[in-house]
Amino acid sequence: MRLKRGVLIVFEGIDGSGKSTQANNLFHALSERSFKAVYFSEPTQGKWGRIIKEKAAFPESLSPEEELKLFQRDREENVEKNLKPALRKKQMVILDRYYFSTIAYQGAKGIDTERIRKLNEKIAVEPDLVFILDLDAKKGLNRIENRKKKDLLFEREDYLVRVRQLFLQINGDNIFHVNADRSEEEISKEIKQIVFAYLNRLTL
Ligand code: ADP
Ligand code: TYD
Repeated sequence: MRLKRGVLIVFEGIDGSGKSTQANNLFHALSERSFKAVYFSEPTQGKWGRIIKEKAAFPESLSPEEELKLFQRDREENVEKNLKPALRKKQMVILDRYYFSTIAYQGAKGIDTERIRKLNEKIAVEPDLVFILDLDAKKGLNRIENRKKKDLLFEREDYLVRVRQLFLQINGDNIFHVNADRSEEEISKEIKQIVFAYLNRLTL
């Protein structure tokens, strides 16, 4: 299927909420209907993303401002190198985390959320659809029990409780809060309905 223009679909939510699972399910559902999609994630595999991942095992190794700076640099690179070229080719882009994560995660470390939003609206491509997967912090952490050790910087429960609250405050026309405390299939079904209804208006 051909699209009139590129489409950017973003998955957000706390760690363990099921973003990667749902992004992957959508990717396959799109391929089945002959939509070509590309998949990116933040933090990226690029130089800034690698620095972020190295630091993630050491809590308090970065100040909130230093963290913000690294995520912003990584995002600028992702927007220019990955997102814009794919969208220009009228591809469908699935993105696992974007600037809503910065609003929620760096916001939960005390940085003003409006400031983060404004910084990002300057550099980011606006997404078509944003799915924020909503799940209790403890349930999210239980799902990723074996991953916990390497991400100490981001995965403490009390912190994720605050991150979740900030995600819940993010609203907009194209932003969907999805109850992630359901089966993988139920969640996929809801997301697919929204995506295919949206794409119907954009196919040639
Ligand atoms: P995230 O990308 O948000 O960190 P993942 O998609 O990696 O989350 O999922 C974290 C873990 O939870 C994985 O082991 C995955 O198989 C499992 N999982 C994903 N969705 C669900 C669900 N709806 N119910 C229960 N477990 C799930
Ligand atoms: P990620 O590798 O996506 O972890 P996960 O698979 O557990 O979701 O992201 C690593 C961490 O980076 C994650 O805990 C959230 C955090 N993060 C921020 O704090 N700010 C941001 O802007 C982004 C994109 C991620």
